[in-house]
Amino acid sequence: MEDMIKGIRRFHEQPIEVKREYYTRDMNKKVRSVSTFDNQAKAVSWKETLFCTMAPEAPNPEELPAACRDIIISYSEHQTRLKFTLLELLSEALGLKPYHLIEMECGVGHSLIGYYYPACPEPDQTKGANEHTDPDFFTILLQDQIGGLQVHYKNQYVDIPPKTGALVVNLGDFFQLISNDKFKSSKHRVLTNLVGPRISVSCFVSTHLYPFNRVYGPIKELLSDDNPALYRETLVRDYVADYVLKELGSPALSHD
Ligand code: OGA
Ligand code: NI
Repeated sequence: MEDMIKGIRRFHEQPIEVKREYYTRDMNKKVRSVSTFDNQAKAVSWKETLFCTMAPEAPNPEELPAACRDIIISYSEHQTRLKFTLLELLSEALGLKPYHLIEMECGVGHSLIGYYYPACPEPDQTKGANEHTDPDFFTILLQDQIGGLQVHYKNQYVDIPPKTGALVVNLGDFFQLISNDKFKSSKHRVLTNLVGPRISVSCFVSTHLYPFNRVYGPIKELLSDDNPALYRETLVRDYVADYVLKELGSPALSHD
């Protein structure tokens, strides 16, 4: 985990000429770096990103930046094991058999996003990440010691202080959808800091924009006359395509 944080920092601290090779707004590229993907926001969020789609189809190793190539590959292997363990635990949390979510292919895809939140001279003017929910099943988040992550809980924002060796798991919109609101997608944000840079790495468990043709709706076993389906079925990529067009934080998941 420490090496992953170091690797992401190494990538972002390279000269702009080196990073330019990875800059693209083409969301179909497996490896891409942009300053922020929150294009519609009134105040641009204070960060840089490196987005790597790792599953179901990993990039060729040489497509990954040399500054963090080896560590991304090994971190991704660890995250693969962890995502399947979490899917088993979450299946049980829903009262289903342990392999239910894995058989539903919820673990087919994941992407790693390495963030660099520079120190911000005027932290009250913008956020590192505006309030949002994640458009995935869940996100496994690694953060360094700077802090700034907050989760919305009981009508207020609560700090999620960094803890060495700990990962944060945020449930996402698709978990809310398949659980038919039994679990809620966590609303969260990242504050800016006078100190920095802050490094964090998200593992988005989802096939994201990959052409994966399974549709997801509320799990039938969880439904009854008293608990009718709150959502219609959707493809992950259709949902994500809609989400990325909107201002970050706009509700994308709606009951209908
Ligand atoms: C995200 C996210 C938080 C962080 O990737 O969606 O909320 O601490 N990241 O970088
Ligand atoms: Ni998030």
